[in-house]
Amino acid sequence: MARALANPELISLAAGFVDQETLPASETQQAFAELAREAASARAALQYGTTSGFPPLREQLLERTLVAGGTSGNWSTRPSVDQVVVTAGSNQLLHLVLESLVDPGDIILCAAPTYLVFLGTVANVGARSVGVATDENGLIPDALEDALRRLADAGDLHRVKAIYLVPYFDNPCGITMSAERVARVVEIAKRWSTEKKIHVIADEAYRELRYHGEDVPTALMMDEEGDTVIVAGTFSKSFSPGIRVGWGVLPRALIAPVCAQKGNIDFGSPNFSQHLMHKVLDLGLFDRHVQSLRRGYRAKLDAMLGAASEYLSPLPGVRWIQPEGGLYVWLQVPEEVDTGPRGTLVDVAIDKGVLYVPGQYCYPSEGQPAQNNTLRLSFGVQSPDRIRRGIRALAEAIQSLPSD
Ligand SMILES: Cc1ncc(COP(=O)(O)O)c(C=O)c1O
Repeated sequence: MARALANPELISLAAGFVDQETLPASETQQAFAELAREAASARAALQYGTTSGFPPLREQLLERTLVAGGTSGNWSTRPSVDQVVVTAGSNQLLHLVLESLVDPGDIILCAAPTYLVFLGTVANVGARSVGVATDENGLIPDALEDALRRLADAGDLHRVKAIYLVPYFDNPCGITMSAERVARVVEIAKRWSTEKKIHVIADEAYRELRYHGEDVPTALMMDEEGDTVIVAGTFSKSFSPGIRVGWGVLPRALIAPVCAQKGNIDFGSPNFSQHLMHKVLDLGLFDRHVQSLRRGYRAKLDAMLGAASEYLSPLPGVRWIQPEGGLYVWLQVPEEVDTGPRGTLVDVAIDKGVLYVPGQYCYPSEGQPAQNNTLRLSFGVQSPDRIRRGIRALAEAIQSLPSD
């Protein structure tokens, strides 16, 4: 990292940040002006809020989660607004959920690879992350059954508290799971909840960032009884990470434990940010902004995939997954190439002027073993031109490695 920072010409395809230039300055200004126009509404935003969050915002969040992208569906037990908790980003929600569900030594089953910060959150609460194999459609249900069977045989089934998925354009692979596959995961979680309840945590951080294809219904829809699926959402990728508004839609039994934890920590997430986001949604500024974000990121994704076809496809053993949205492209290089910090590729890539995230960081510590010949590329921050140049540099780096 130090070497990378010393070279300002280096093209970082590593950080999963949003594009600084697209941050919604004028939309935020407009929403703020509206909020501040009347002293009463400004004062309401400047006061403490409640632990679970600003009710009108929670209504909006629930509505958007259930119908975002035009999928409404048939609800046998439609979640209600009291199941929505607003948090300081979705990482806080994930942390609170784990604190509520997990005792030290418990197990969280994760798609392998998965969101690397979540692996840190699991470790932080003293739990074990166990990886389950994935393919180009996400976590493999049969592999999940196998993992549960192995844990049951070892007498550890009572330790399994949740299965973690990023169903839309996941971090790090860009994969979107089909509704059928998510439904199978939920069904498996319910069937194996014989000793302790196994929840499914569906982290929908990237759902709004779709550039191609149709939206897929939320995992909440697959949970007829409403007792298994936890959805985590956030405005960090679709509007602003600095405003720090995330949320969860929780099974009823989890509302009290999560809110008890939360109340002891923060008296509620920043009320001002919640009132601001309520205005942003109410005035239609969010939808307008997301439309323009999608146009910008679509061009960047297309630039990355176009450059990959041009520069990487001639290289033997190099493959990648084509995402329909999100911020990431997952790349596999020949098996003998170690992309990690002590491997052969990283130094050459930095010398050629490009930085990536080694794929091995994204694997849980147990279960499905890390694939050391993988890497994550992010197209959020750089311009289409720099993305193309970054991919060309990466291709040159791979090509320059001695072949065995
Ligand atoms: C999959 C996933 N979930 C959650 C988050 C956390 O976002 P925040 O805490 O800013 O809402 C991120 C951020 O990169 C992410 O990639």
